[in-house]
Amino acid sequence: MKNITIAPSLLSANFYNLSDEISSLNKIFKDEKNLWLHLDIMDGHFVPNLTFGTPVLKKISNHCNMPLDAHFMVTNPFDYIEWFKDLNIHNFTFHIEATDDPIKLCLEIKKFYPSVGISVKPGTSLDFLTEELIKKIDLLLIMTVEPGFGGQGFIESTLDKISMVQKLKEKFNPSLNIQVDGGINNDTSKKVIKAGANNLVSGSYFFKTDSTMSKKYSSLIH
Ligand code: DX5
Ligand code: ZN
Repeated sequence: MKNITIAPSLLSANFYNLSDEISSLNKIFKDEKNLWLHLDIMDGHFVPNLTFGTPVLKKISNHCNMPLDAHFMVTNPFDYIEWFKDLNIHNFTFHIEATDDPIKLCLEIKKFYPSVGISVKPGTSLDFLTEELIKKIDLLLIMTVEPGFGGQGFIESTLDKISMVQKLKEKFNPSLNIQVDGGINNDTSKKVIKAGANNLVSGSYFFKTDSTMSKKYSSLIH
């Protein structure tokens, strides 16, 4: 069986009761170490939505046991590197559409964070992904919906992109995490894993459907 990590997306959690949501995740993490908490940071400019900032994330960081995975949907990712550096974030992902110099950005991020990721929107081609760049990153996030909102339907055409990245991974960076984000449930998870994804973000399926979190976790990795 493949080694799959699940990253529940806080965007779909109950914001009125975050402490219970984080405690439930911490309980699963005791037995299942392949669990990250995915944090969608939106600036209302790169995407037409706003989420949470450092005061909220500081509290979460203090109480969350699992690695924090920050997905920056922002126009100026460079400015966020220092700003967020004390939040104990494990992985810092920026959007390729938000920079002209991804190598410089990756090098700067790695000064402060253990892992750097690049995210690509459904309509953006993979031409940017040179051998030099793929060797510098720890994670490639293939958006399987348009970034900005939870609860959207999975875009099937992104499966080809996952397969393309899988081939590049084998050739240039075997330890690369291939992450997918958007419309991931117990059905689409099978398709993305088959195509090569090993790190699955799940928001509305994970937090808003019936059944327990641990059953949903298991349903996503199989
Ligand atoms: C969308 C965010 C996702 C979102 C996924 O821009 O990046 O992380 O929370 O939500 P679902 O799983 O509901 O599509
Ligand atoms: Zn996300």
